[in-house]
Amino acid sequence: MTDTTDYRDAYPPSPQFAAEANADASIYDRAAADREGFWAEQAGRLHWHEPWTRTLDWSNAPVAEWFVDGKLNVAYNCVDRHVLDGHGDQVAIHWEGEPGDSRALTYSDLLAEVSRAANYFTELGLRAGDRVAIYMPMVPEAIIAMLACARLGLTHSLVFAGFSPTALRQRIDDAEARLVITTDGQWRRGAPAPLKTAVDEALGTGSHTVEHVLVVRRTGIDTPWTEGRDLWWDETVERSAPEHEAQPFDSEHPLFILYTSGTTGKPKGILHTSGGYLTQAAYTHHTVFDHRPGRDVYWCTADIGWVTGHSYIVYGPLANRATQIVYEGTPNFPDQHRHFQIIEKYGVTIYYTAPTLIRTFMKWGREIPDAHDLTSLRVLGSVGEPINPEAWRWYREVIGAGSTPIVDTWWQTETGAIMISPLPGVTAAKPGAAMTPLPGISAAVVDEEGKPVRLGETEANGYLVLDQPWPSMARGIWGDMDRFRTTYWERYAAQGWYFAGDGAKLDADGDLWVLGRVDDVMNVSGHRISTAEVESALVGHAGVAEAAVVGAGDATTGQGIVAFVILTAEAAARSGAALVAELKAEVSREISPIAKPREIHIVPELPKTRSGKIMRRLLRDVAEGRELGDTSTLVDPDVFEAIRASRA
Ligand code: WTA
Repeated sequence: MTDTTDYRDAYPPSPQFAAEANADASIYDRAAADREGFWAEQAGRLHWHEPWTRTLDWSNAPVAEWFVDGKLNVAYNCVDRHVLDGHGDQVAIHWEGEPGDSRALTYSDLLAEVSRAANYFTELGLRAGDRVAIYMPMVPEAIIAMLACARLGLTHSLVFAGFSPTALRQRIDDAEARLVITTDGQWRRGAPAPLKTAVDEALGTGSHTVEHVLVVRRTGIDTPWTEGRDLWWDETVERSAPEHEAQPFDSEHPLFILYTSGTTGKPKGILHTSGGYLTQAAYTHHTVFDHRPGRDVYWCTADIGWVTGHSYIVYGPLANRATQIVYEGTPNFPDQHRHFQIIEKYGVTIYYTAPTLIRTFMKWGREIPDAHDLTSLRVLGSVGEPINPEAWRWYREVIGAGSTPIVDTWWQTETGAIMISPLPGVTAAKPGAAMTPLPGISAAVVDEEGKPVRLGETEANGYLVLDQPWPSMARGIWGDMDRFRTTYWERYAAQGWYFAGDGAKLDADGDLWVLGRVDDVMNVSGHRISTAEVESALVGHAGVAEAAVVGAGDATTGQGIVAFVILTAEAAARSGAALVAELKAEVSREISPIAKPREIHIVPELPKTRSGKIMRRLLRDVAEGRELGDTSTLVDPDVFEAIRASRA
């Protein structure tokens, strides 16, 4: 990215915004003076069926227990209590379907729907602790299904509806799901595309744990059916009773598993529990977005298949009695005005999206947003990858009328909720900086040995660590606690710190800038994809002998996937172009279209160290067209001539 960074350029909130905001500067001091007391206060945002006896038990680190002995029901907190408090008629969800249909669900509607689903799931024999896979597009039933699971203590595992049958099966097997919930199809740019068939394909071979597939009718397309196993949502859930009494569960009861890419090919099932997770989701949604129920119309554009959708479409906003937009489709269907039309139609006040979309809007041109009345917007948010200062300024200037605060929120699937971000009524935010750990959160930027990097030394970048436990932290990797320890806690085991896998620096004012992943995880349009996963999909093709994958800078998507492959002798005789197309299709099929390489280069050899490790850093240099760095440890530096020739 070509824009320059001025570490002094900062945007304070207007005095009026600051005066009316949910949080003022004193919140930092309060939290620092008594961290646990501060979190106990935040847990008071929730309804507890039984109070906790201890705020934090860290004696079994790195597995925390928060709000020990406390009992609550997550769905009751997100739905029932708002109805009981007299807000049943408030709209919870303004849903916009891709083809232009829409639906409004009040909190009373949501309570009835969630209760029906809970009753039917119980009838199916599901019991607290069982796992349910949810493979659905952005329809209200997806949220209803999640809340019904939460209500019954069932642990949900969302699988993004863009994932392949192979990826779905892997996740179903790992979690041993008893039920899969899906839709007949999903709308894609005006046309219905089948989705349930992907579940059929996933379950097609070998034994599995799935007893039923529950299907929401969304598109009405023809759907193959397995009698006895498959069930229509409208013939079952919708015919169930709309009353259900929520039972309390332990604060540490598993709420969900969400798979995310790591540095190896196998996705990690990140486990989150109930009380601490919901506390931090609600607190951050309230504080970071300055959300006030009854005043704001909130819109997070993420997909519920990602953690952002879990914490900032479902749990945080609903716990805070938000009125929010849920949109089914893409930003450019039927045209590039869609998001701005929705903002205008509903008077959206808080808009939370990803840098990749902001850069796409920039490419489309400001005349598109300029054609709409966006004056309702009062807070803008960004998540998923570092936002480049140029995109930040454009976002504020063009979408935010040059005046709305922007919150650049850093967090991860593993952290469960926002960790580092400006506060809109407090922070003089700098374009491109995540700025400051939130009140209650402690982070540091350190070197290999764990020594703090010095302020302002832009060359002295370090690693981002979290040096104190936080309520919404992951409680493990499903079925693999060893991997949880080695991935996040081994690097700074002596200090007991969480290693986030991101590089960061502190500027001369002590403000924090996140620089991106330091491991073999790529970030494409805010989606985490591991190099190993794509490599393994490529070598799964009979024509590929070896593959190396790197993330190369991309002006729109942040990173693009660039693959270098060595062909088998038989495949080498074939046409390169046809093979490359086949390989791209193979990766889409094996993982997801989001993992499809931007470029695939057929090379005679890969650069390796004497110990046989592929030198990705050098491949990244090649992919980004840079001069090569140090090649002295390579077995054969000449391989680069051949690799460069393949790109020409
Ligand atoms: C990156 C998404 C810079 C980071 C919530 C992190 C960011 C990974 C930001 C987690 C940000 C997320 N600035 N980088 N504001 N937000 N990231 O698990 O590399 O899908 O480790 O969670 O995204 O991605 P995940």
